[in-house]
Amino acid sequence: MTKHVEKKSELRELALKHLSPVMTRITDLVVAKAQGAKFWTEDGTEYIDFVSGVAVNAVGHAHPEVVKAIHEQSSQLIHLGLNYGYYESAVKLAQKLAEITPGELDTVFFSNSGAEAIDGAIKLARAATKRPNIIAFEGSFHGRTLGATSLTASSSKYRKYYEPLVGGVYHVPYPYQSQLHFQSEEETVQYCLNRLTKLFELVVDPTQVAAIIIEPVMGEGGYVPAPLSFLQKLRQIADDNGILLIFDEVQTGFGRTGKMFASEHAGITPDVFVLAKALSSGMPLGAIVASRELHEKWQTGTHGSTFGGNPVSCAAALASIHVMESEGLIERSERLGKAIVNRLNHELADYPSVAEIRGIGMMIGIEFQDERGQPGTTIVSKIREEALQHHLLVTSCGVYGQTIRLMLPLNIDETVLDKGLTILTNCIINVIK
Ligand SMILES: Cc1ncc(COP(=O)(O)O)c(C=O)c1O
Repeated sequence: MTKHVEKKSELRELALKHLSPVMTRITDLVVAKAQGAKFWTEDGTEYIDFVSGVAVNAVGHAHPEVVKAIHEQSSQLIHLGLNYGYYESAVKLAQKLAEITPGELDTVFFSNSGAEAIDGAIKLARAATKRPNIIAFEGSFHGRTLGATSLTASSSKYRKYYEPLVGGVYHVPYPYQSQLHFQSEEETVQYCLNRLTKLFELVVDPTQVAAIIIEPVMGEGGYVPAPLSFLQKLRQIADDNGILLIFDEVQTGFGRTGKMFASEHAGITPDVFVLAKALSSGMPLGAIVASRELHEKWQTGTHGSTFGGNPVSCAAALASIHVMESEGLIERSERLGKAIVNRLNHELADYPSVAEIRGIGMMIGIEFQDERGQPGTTIVSKIREEALQHHLLVTSCGVYGQTIRLMLPLNIDETVLDKGLTILTNCIINVIK
């Protein structure tokens, strides 16, 4: 029998001994409890959480409605397997996702995570089009399974040691203006479209491409929104060539960008949505949402999952979406996101180390540069460390870790928000002044 762990330091030692070191440890805090936008370590120290479990707890940690749904569902049915029968939470959630996703996307496959849903979407695209190839974008992050790793190009370290990866994946530049060093959005978009056209001409014929997959706002790669005209053009290119357009909305979905889904900003509907993270407030769940017609081209029995669409996860997701709708969190994300960016601009924009403050809804990035205009990786590490000392958890993104990204709960209490932002801007100014 496992011995009862008595002291917090013992727990940390046990973790160091028994948890694999492969996962990067951002902190070595031992966390006992989390609620809303705060968590508490074992000794009762309070922290403000600007990470939200990596954009998962969009309605805050342990929202009472979500907790209640989890309790009720787990007392009735914890697991069955969606191929052994239907149950209410999964079916109602599929219906709800059909209702809230744009266009005619009405059919859902459930998995356990974002990466697994990405893998499923690759399989769906290949099976439905009978074409082998996938186009993805430089800087993108789609997850850690071998399939998702094959699409991921936000750092070569994620791919190192794992090659050969899934074949037939081609990467083209993401319209990240400052990294591509263009003066205007138009030039950036044109350059990226030209690179795609060149790829079609020189390397892979478009009739052999099953799907183009894109994060409408690049997450891990730097919190960079793709220009809407670029997304619209991709829609057109996909349509012209019988290619499926897949939006990875694992990080952008469920209000993070000030709309329920980021695709709505561009007014286009992808053929496939890949969803996870905030979908279920921390219970493991991913979803592939597409039209019935497309799903019917995916031959029965060629894909599946033991846990996918778990009853408790689906109940948590239904409650979580209900909270977003009933508490008006999508509109709040848009409104509060603007106010946060205004405040950050007001307090920080004049410092030369602050390269850019950008945000769409509550998906906000503060990019730093050093005195030579190079990525401000060290600055960001110092800010993170100093913030943690002041009991604020923030994290970074960007190929070089040069951007602080804010992933606050959409319902964050304004007093907590103000306190957290004050700590953050003080720490930033302290490091860069
Ligand atoms: C855009 C995007 N896609 C996919 C994933 C992978 O999701 P998961 O970690 O649930 O496998 C992530 C995770 O950070 C992500 O940000």
